[in-house]
Amino acid sequence: MRRFSNTILTGLPMLLWALSALADTDGVFDEYRAMFGDENPAIFVIDEGEELWLTAAGPKAVTLENCDLGLGPGVVEGAYAQLPRYFQDAQRVQDLESRLEYCMIHLQGRSAADIHARPYSLRGDLGTEMEALVAWIAEQSRGLPIAPGQAHVQERNAYALGESLFYYRAGPHDFSCATCHGQSGKRIRLQALPDLTGHDGAAEAYSSWPAYRISQGLVRTMGWRMRDCFRQQRMPELIMGSEASVALQTYLAVNAAGAAMAAPGLKR
Ligand code: HEC
Repeated sequence: MRRFSNTILTGLPMLLWALSALADTDGVFDEYRAMFGDENPAIFVIDEGEELWLTAAGPKAVTLENCDLGLGPGVVEGAYAQLPRYFQDAQRVQDLESRLEYCMIHLQGRSAADIHARPYSLRGDLGTEMEALVAWIAEQSRGLPIAPGQAHVQERNAYALGESLFYYRAGPHDFSCATCHGQSGKRIRLQALPDLTGHDGAAEAYSSWPAYRISQGLVRTMGWRMRDCFRQQRMPELIMGSEASVALQTYLAVNAAGAAMAAPGLKR
């Protein structure tokens, strides 16, 4: 009995700590963010991304410097904020990841299979080329308003497809994105779930990706975020740069339009 009460007594502070952490997880991460200030660890990945852009690669041994991200060959500043958008040469709407893939194939002569082999880090990896490039390019839109293309009919179709995917219920639990992200003030385990159907929630989320994930020690892209939420929905694996991935990002970007980009963000 004595031993039992001892356990309770020593366990109590731990329990109280855990409970207060539970009640205040957002606060803890706010503190962590404040501690880092401008020192988002993503800065190292950003530098690496710029280096990769300037490094000759692929069978043709050329750099990505002539890649057109929508504002003309080689223009990086402000490009991320205007994606996804329709590209005449590719004849489709592209997000940054599918656009980079296009440039890697057409400028550098690389194969789609090679690019798709490992676009996103696995646990324990140190980051991929795609993650570094996206971190640097997104950072070059910091402070600029989110303004995805919606003039071309294919851009409007991408939004409509994204919206219907967002509300499409499927998988063993019959979840849609809206099940978890259709109203504000919801939580799952410890994470606050943003309402992504309105401007404010979409703006806060969209503007902060790509993001450095503290728990993983990695920069993650918006494409990865889509794939990971697809997985949470118990859906088949979402392919990087696929029509569905681009459509979902178009839906979020258009809902977020006008807000200032603030990526790379810092996430738990
Ligand atoms: C089962 C619940 C669930 C479903 C279904 C779900 N998500 Fe999520 N989503 C989450 C959770 C939990 C997080 C926060 C993850 C974290 O912090 O690790 C999140 C985070 C996000 C974020 C980042 C928000 C931010 O502010 O950083 C976006 C964007 C997002 N989800 C989009 C989607 C889309 C699009 C779909 C549908 C394909 C979807 N989610 C389906 C649970 C869900």
